Amino acid sequence: MREICTLGAMWRGLETDSRFGFQGTPRGNGEQQARLNLRNTAPVLDPTGLATGVAPQPPIGILLLMQPDQEVISKWRDSAPFWQKHREIIRQMFAPVTQALVEDGLIGSGHTVLDIATGPGEPALTIAALVGSEGKVFGIDPVPEMVEAARRATVHLGFGNAQFDVASADHLPHHADIFDAVVSRFGVMFFPSPVDAVREMLRVLKPERKLALAVWHFAERNPFHYALWQVIERYIESPPPAPDAPDAFRFAIPGKLRDVLAEAGAMAPSERLLQFTVQAPISVEDFWTLRCEMSEKLRERVAMLSREQVTEVKRQALECLRGYSTDHGMSFPAEVLIVSGTKNRPT
Ligand SMILES: C[S@@+](CC[C@H](N)C(=O)[O-])C[C@H]1O[C@@H](n2cnc3c(N)ncnc32)[C@H](O)[C@@H]1O
Repeated sequence: MREICTLGAMWRGLETDSRFGFQGTPRGNGEQQARLNLRNTAPVLDPTGLATGVAPQPPIGILLLMQPDQEVISKWRDSAPFWQKHREIIRQMFAPVTQALVEDGLIGSGHTVLDIATGPGEPALTIAALVGSEGKVFGIDPVPEMVEAARRATVHLGFGNAQFDVASADHLPHHADIFDAVVSRFGVMFFPSPVDAVREMLRVLKPERKLALAVWHFAERNPFHYALWQVIERYIESPPPAPDAPDAFRFAIPGKLRDVLAEAGAMAPSERLLQFTVQAPISVEDFWTLRCEMSEKLRERVAMLSREQVTEVKRQALECLRGYSTDHGMSFPAEVLIVSGTKNRPT
């Protein structure tokens, strides 16, 4: 109880606490305009990480249309401190997904790889270790706090071959035809236009190289998500999101993301179901805290409950979570779709 109250107070504090350098509300037009001006002179990045001149940018009016969904970005800004805090556990939990992206993206030593929606730097930093000093990894995310967290982790881990930049998936600051692979783990479901984003991925890929994306399969197949939701929903009804609203399960229906790749012009788009185990070497109580902190939707719902309801929800949630507790920590069966495609060879 004490813990969840502290958590609740912290969340409320975050909305106005300038120590975290962000606000809980979408940013105003002035700031958007500043970002637009900044982007209008954005340097193009080449695989060595050196700026190689100013990218030809569309006029401001078109850029306005291309702005990522500010509400989505604002929510991820609120989540960034928690994703930084739990970075290492998140890396461990989703390591099998990273492995699948590496395999399907045909990533190997010496490659130059782009990770889109990298958050606090995954799978980029795992891939940086894999490609070695002859290779290079770039990560982009539109949330500056996520990018800062990724940069801090890069320094902490001592990697000299990883670079992180603030950018959105539908407007990549890179030259065409430079990457050996493009990956994104749990990112594409939040993009304003997944088709445009995949077109951008294909533009920056070298011909005949692959992009590989990971998205969640149905919520009911993933107790990592639904174990807590089913308890919360006893108290707060959540209408299902619109089919194309930004949401973790936007691409849960098999074939949906593969069709996006086909529409964007990827060659031989394919999909496979990855069944794996989410393993977190933490206690049931710590898992409750981790999930509540990681998920903006959960934080929002818990904040709507009375103090008594929170106590009861937590009691029921812990009871349910104990079913997934082992001697080595938490263990959940999980299902993810890995969707990949190839860039055409030049005609
Ligand atoms: C679920 S997190 C995934 C983070 C990381 N890839 C991982 O698997 O740990 C989703 C990420 O998508 C990013 N994101 C949201 N909208 C985006 C956009 N338009 N372009 C690129 N990234 C975006 C968020 O800022 C957030 O960091």
